[in-house]
Amino acid sequence: MASFDQRELRNVLGSFVTGVTVVTTLDAEGRPVGVTANSFSSVSLEPPLILWSQALTARSFPAFRDSGRFIINILAEDQAHISQRFAKAGEDKFAGIAVREGIDRLPLIEGCTAYLECRKVATHPGGDHAVFLGEVERIELRDRKPLAFGGGRYMLAHAYDLGAFSIDKPSSGLQHVEAVRIANAALPELGQRLDAMLGLSVWGNRGPTVINWEPTRNAVTHDLHTGLVVSPVFSASGLTFAAHLPREMTCHHIQAELKMLHEAGMSNVPSLEHVEARLAEVRAHGLAHSVPERFGADIAAIGAPVFDHRGRIIFALTAIAPSSRIGEGYEGALQTALRQEAATLSQRLGHKVIV
Ligand SMILES: Cc1cc2nc3c(=O)[nH]c(=O)nc-3n(C[C@H](O)[C@H](O)[C@H](O)COP(=O)(O)O)c2cc1C
Repeated sequence: MASFDQRELRNVLGSFVTGVTVVTTLDAEGRPVGVTANSFSSVSLEPPLILWSQALTARSFPAFRDSGRFIINILAEDQAHISQRFAKAGEDKFAGIAVREGIDRLPLIEGCTAYLECRKVATHPGGDHAVFLGEVERIELRDRKPLAFGGGRYMLAHAYDLGAFSIDKPSSGLQHVEAVRIANAALPELGQRLDAMLGLSVWGNRGPTVINWEPTRNAVTHDLHTGLVVSPVFSASGLTFAAHLPREMTCHHIQAELKMLHEAGMSNVPSLEHVEARLAEVRAHGLAHSVPERFGADIAAIGAPVFDHRGRIIFALTAIAPSSRIGEGYEGALQTALRQEAATLSQRLGHKVIV
């Protein structure tokens, strides 16, 4: 007997991120039928075979069971509403949806990323589902990013930045690598101009991550580790990213941090409202201010955002200096200079300031 319940199985299966398709066909009366499915998978290249599976209880199952053909419409990133429409049993799912005719007049949904027009070659039993095997007869690929689905949510798929190891279409990844190279190369000069120790951070998979340090002659600390993941609510880098990144990218990290602090029994853990107010302040001043615990109470840090050509934050540039030099506010000489240097670096990366 299975050692898990259905919910646990769903959760595990949901962790496998997929694209989203709408499979279409015509019923016995020639009416269009469509259903949202992420069970689509490639099977064979020679002969070209694909599969998808359908619940035996689905209203549209008889139509797919009896039809000799189906079309896999691979949805584009702006078609989540179409996925929703075809995931609900409805009288006229196609109302208001732009379609055109494919082989044997089966409906293709306009605006998709790709299409596979298939002849059904086998139907296999699969527990409470039937597995349909299709031989691909015609394909079409459009220049549209696909919609993704995982953990029960729609997602946007972004090319993973493999940098030098990129195997396909390296240009999108190289832009980020190139930006890292430019920022790293600029750091020594920036450190000299600001006469302050600098940190360069990116938003990594575990949150704000320091990727480079620039020590100065009179460095305030020698505790310079790269790869350090810093707090999204207390560190200057973390606050800078949290203030400027889309909330859906940061909320999980912020909540996890606050929970961890609560569980560690820390007194004065800021509330979410308090953090939000702090982030609004960071945005308003274009600068984050913190007193990082790891450097001691007499050392402060300020962080400024560096934006890329798309206007998205790509780095947090942080200056670490004695508290006496940085002071409390947002308007000191170092603050102004750091903001300026971050803006100049943003421009070098192609960021255009709209005035
Ligand atoms: C993202 C997503 C993927 C889905 N994948 C499948 C699938 O692969 N097979 C399936 O039978 N149902 C799948 N469903 C559920 C069907 O779309 C849903 O049951 C739909 O109401 C069936 O339509 P029908 O009742 O008109 O046949 C999926 C739903 C969503 C939102």
